[in-house]
Formats: sequence, C-alpha cells, structure tokens
Amino acid sequence: MAVEVRGVVSRGRGEPVTVETVLVPDPGPGEAVVDVQACGVCHTDLHYREGGISEDYPFLLGHEAAGLVSAVGEGVTGLAAGDFVILNWRAVCGVCRACARGRPWYCFDTANATRKMTLPDGTDLSPALGIGALAEKTLVAAGQCTKVDPAAPAAVAGLLGCGVMAGLGAAINTGGVTRGDTVAVYGCGGVGAAAVAGAALAGARTIVAVDVDARKLGAARRLGATQAVNATVEDPVEAIRRATGGYGADVVIEAVGRPETYRQAFYSRDLAGTLVLVGVPTPDMTLEMPLLDFFSRGGALKSSWYGDCLPSRDFPLLIDLYLQGRLDLDRFVSATITIDEVEDAFAAMHRGDVLRSVVMF
Ligand SMILES: NC(=O)c1ccc[n+]([C@@H]2O[C@H](COP(=O)([O-])OP(=O)(O)OC[C@H]3O[C@@H](n4cnc5c(N)ncnc54)[C@H](O)[C@@H]3O)[C@@H](O)[C@H]2O)c1
Ligand SMILES: [Zn+2]
Ligand SMILES: [Zn+2]
Repeated sequence: MAVEVRGVVSRGRGEPVTVETVLVPDPGPGEAVVDVQACGVCHTDLHYREGGISEDYPFLLGHEAAGLVSAVGEGVTGLAAGDFVILNWRAVCGVCRACARGRPWYCFDTANATRKMTLPDGTDLSPALGIGALAEKTLVAAGQCTKVDPAAPAAVAGLLGCGVMAGLGAAINTGGVTRGDTVAVYGCGGVGAAAVAGAALAGARTIVAVDVDARKLGAARRLGATQAVNATVEDPVEAIRRATGGYGADVVIEAVGRPETYRQAFYSRDLAGTLVLVGVPTPDMTLEMPLLDFFSRGGALKSSWYGDCLPSRDFPLLIDLYLQGRLDLDRFVSATITIDEVEDAFAAMHRGDVLRSVVMF
C-alpha cells in the first residue's frame, strides 16, 4: 500500500519548488523504503530546478540524506527495518566492466528503485540522483542504503551522501593525498572545504585554500587549511608557489567547475603533480591551452565523480572517524531548516552564506 508523505517537488524550469503530497509505494524486489531523518540541500538540487540536469519534470529533490529503513522488499539481505543508513547514488552492480575489473567505485551501471514514487494524480516523479530524499520517506534500491553507526547524528551523516564525500574523496581517493604532500584547493564551498579536511586527514603538510569569499576561507582554515588565499586580492597561482617553496603543490583540487579556475589550478601544480577536477562545468564551457604545457609539466589530470568513493567502504569508516573526533563534520552543517524552507536555502546558497542547509524531518 502506497503511503502519503510530504516532499519537495520541482515542477518546471526556474519555478520555485513546492512541498506536495507524494505517494511512496511499498518496496519492490531489491528495494527499500527509508524514513528520512535529515537531507542536505545541495547545489545539484538547484541545478535540477533550473533545468541544468534534464527535462524530466516533475523532480522529487534531495539526495544527501540519512534515515531509518522502514521496510525492505523481497530478496533484500543484509538490511532490515530500523537500520540507520546513509543514502548513496552509487549502488554498485558487481558485474559491469568496471566492477568486473575490481574497480567498483567507477561502476557504470548503478542501481535505483524501479517502482515509482508519484503525485496523487498518478504522475511519475523523477527522484534527484535516483534518491529523492527531500521527503518524509523515499524509495530506493537496497544497495543505495549504507549502514553506519547510529550514534552519528543524521544531519551530519547525510552529508556524506554527496558533496562532503565528493570533496573528501577528491583529496583522498582521486588525488591520493598522502603524508607530507602539499595541496591546494580552489573553491571552498561544501565540496572544497571537505577536500581541505580530507587533505588534513591524509597528513598533508601544506594546504592552501583559495576562494573569493573571506567567510569560506575562514571555514577552510578551521578545517585544516594552513594558508588562505583570497583570489580577489592576490594571484592564487603565485600565492600557491610561494607557499610551496616556489614549486607549486603536489595535488591541486578544483572545486569550482569553471575554465578560469581550472587553468589556474593547472599552473598551481608542481612538475609531475596531480590535478583533480571535482567541480562540475556546464555544457557551454570550453578551455584553450598550449598542448605542450600538458606534456612538459607531466603528472596526472583526473576528474573525480563522487570522490571515487565506495559507499560500503568509505561511509562507515568516515563516520567512525567523526565519532572519534578525528573528522569535524559538524562544521559543514551551517543551518538546520524545515521542509518548507528549501527555497530560502537555495537563496542562502546563492549568497554564499552556508556550506550546507540541512532539512530535518
Ligand atoms: N564531482 C562530484 O561528484 C560532485 C559532487 C557534488 C558537487 N560537485 C560540484 O562541486 C562544485 C562545488 O560544489 P559546492 O557545493 O561546494 O558549491 P559552492 O557554490 O558552495 O562552492 C563553490 C565555491 O567556489 C568559490 N568560487 C567561486 N569563484 C571562484 C574563483 N574564481 N576562485 C576561487 N573560488 C571561487 C565560491 O565562493 C564558493 O565558495 C560544484 O560545481 C558542484 O556541482 C561535484
Ligand atoms: Zn558495476
Ligand atoms: Zn549533491
């Protein structure tokens, strides 16, 4: 029997989101229904509302969430009602060409629920990133639920479901930051600030945070940046070279997603350094640079999807580190809000006021 819940729906390009009644069906085979306890408001939710992802309106927004499993469908093992879980958008298939080669963090065939959540008139909803968790309950593939220690507050745990994991993973998994490295991070919103925290966790000795907003730089410092550079005041490439003995950083993370910052990040590397693009560009953006510079500077140019995370490996580990006081995830929760305040949260995001607003249910 489908249940009625309240959810945040985006009905058309650029239109303000509305809180509507959503029908959540019983879980089908291999599926689970989760009582959402907390869901962060991410830039990607705003992209959906603005038509930047697809035209499959109406969307059920939300994808950075944690909650309690309320029911599981036929054939689900290892997950039961009452389990505390973080939702992920990488339920690995185990058989695609990436999984078959032992690289499941690239899985090219991730699972979502096949049953549909709908509006009361029967219209199918498109859940954001296959999750749709800005709702009191949501239906997902069982593999999208990762069990973690229930001692962690839901508001904090949920953030690992997207942006914070993307940043931590860009540094640790994709960039391979290790003890003694020098690191620079362009853009210190939720994702970049998490990359700073990840670099600190991995033992980087120098971490240069770059942003155009002094408030973001303050947050980055509190998360472990050793230097902060305001790109409106000084040239970040020069500042990073100065901070690294004149050489540039071993690992540079671009968490803005623009050609200008990508170019700066490219030239902020030491020879043979690694550049990680975690910011998401828009389809109109292009980049023109001397090909010789790519060759002569050597190193690695990588992109990071979801921080190359493997939820089953990374979520429980990061929650344990948080509970031990070794990873400050509380700092990412700038505000807790109600389901009726998502438009205000988009505005706060636009003004740069928050790392994350988190809806509590
Ligand atoms: N790769 C992934 O899997 C993944 C996952 C989630 C988000 N993202 C992307 O990561 C990016 C960052 O997300 P976010 O939530 O942190 O967004 P955000 O808007 O909170 O952060 C962007 C930051 O960049 C700063 N900035 C803007 N122009 C700059 C410049 N010229 N130089 C330096 N800093 C500048 C802003 O002041 C802001 O602090 C977005 O593009 C988002 O879509 C990627
Ligand atoms: Zn796979
Ligand atoms: Zn997100």
